Amino acid sequence: MIFRNILQFLPAYATLTFAAQTPLDDPYNSPPLLPKSESSELLSLHRKLVEHESITGNEEGVGKWLTSYLESKKFTVKLQEVTSKRYNLLAYGSKKKTSILVTSHIDTVPPFWPYYYNETSDVIGGRGSVDAKASVAAQIIAVQGLEGKLLDDISLLFVVGEETGGDGMKHFSSLINDPDSPSAHTYDVVIFGEPTEGKLVCGHKGMLGFTVKVKGKAAHSGYPWLGVSANDVLVEALGRLLVLRDNLPWSEKYGNTTMNIGKVQGGVAANVVAETAEARIAVRLAAATPKIVQGMVLDALEDVKSSVEKLGGTLEIEWSGEGYPPIDIDCDIESFEKLTVNYGTDVPNLKGDHKRYLYGPGSIFVAHSDHEALKKKDLEQAVLDFRRLIVETSEMHHQEHLEM
Ligand SMILES: *[C@@H]1O[C@H](CO)[C@@H](O)[C@H](O)[C@H]1NC(C)=O
Ligand SMILES: *[C@@H]1O[C@H](CO)[C@@H](O)[C@H](O)[C@H]1NC(C)=O
Repeated sequence: MIFRNILQFLPAYATLTFAAQTPLDDPYNSPPLLPKSESSELLSLHRKLVEHESITGNEEGVGKWLTSYLESKKFTVKLQEVTSKRYNLLAYGSKKKTSILVTSHIDTVPPFWPYYYNETSDVIGGRGSVDAKASVAAQIIAVQGLEGKLLDDISLLFVVGEETGGDGMKHFSSLINDPDSPSAHTYDVVIFGEPTEGKLVCGHKGMLGFTVKVKGKAAHSGYPWLGVSANDVLVEALGRLLVLRDNLPWSEKYGNTTMNIGKVQGGVAANVVAETAEARIAVRLAAATPKIVQGMVLDALEDVKSSVEKLGGTLEIEWSGEGYPPIDIDCDIESFEKLTVNYGTDVPNLKGDHKRYLYGPGSIFVAHSDHEALKKKDLEQAVLDFRRLIVETSEMHHQEHLEM
């Protein structure tokens, strides 16, 4: 696809956006970021998306509504069933196989919090208002404002299941990477939307999850030598992991690898020697690979494991999937601020040889909280930023093709 002069595809006001880097905080004194009609379209789209509860597993309602919205805007929408009544939406204009894919997710974490918009403070809140319905709404409005060949070269993909392991994106990835499937296709550029405070993300940490499971032998607490306390063994194992935690690999780019002991449970009562105990742990990798860190965990727990086995108990480690290493993401667009983040995304779930970018409005620090919210002006800025990102990445891609 050839773009001779990318600016010809943009409406005239879009050139304003290249200067709009530091909007003032006072909503009444700052110049409007978007034309009035576009701003109200954005707000009502965002509102509808947030008003539909779509906690992972229950994405059907919001998906149906969004399908009819996109169809009313003359997009062709294809549904992909991921599991029963859970659908990814793929929307495009005149052709299905486009060079650019713009994507985010329509599921949210629990619990549901209703939508609100406080005009005095310029704050819009509710579950999903940031993560990631702000990205979904801004992406759609951004794409609608493009014209001509560029508009025809963009697909929008809204997936389910991002918050619980990415089954939606994994499903999409398996379809486009299956050479026998009619959906087989390689995109040149993929733009992911997640809360990044309006910055371009140059990478995120990797992930490795596991559960330490201990089985001992129950006994009366007055005669503990007749049993094997699973709790004692687990506490000892966790002690080893705390020592390991300070010695995990790190990198300049991502900082320290961190380990969160997120859930611990064991035993039944104070006067019973615990028969079982377990701890659930999440490691965020700043360097190395899940395989290497798995080896380190096994080494750290080796002694504890063999001593409990001598007493007739067991210590097992159950890995939650294979994990993934730190994910480097393209961020070669000069005009954006950059950062790295510590949370996981769907980026590694989409396999393929494409350039990939990660950007979105709102802060991750409020995203999963009961005060999830963002400023209206940040939502509006995201429309301009997504549009700029699409224009600049497609232009760059075109340049690279000319040089080849
Ligand atoms: C809206 O925001 C203003 C300014 O922060 C605050 O004083 C007011 O209580 C808020 N209104 C509601 C309904 O929360
Ligand atoms: C990484 O961990 C070390 C101690 O192990 C600490 O001194 C340092 O401040 C940590 N770095 C960051 C970026 O948190």
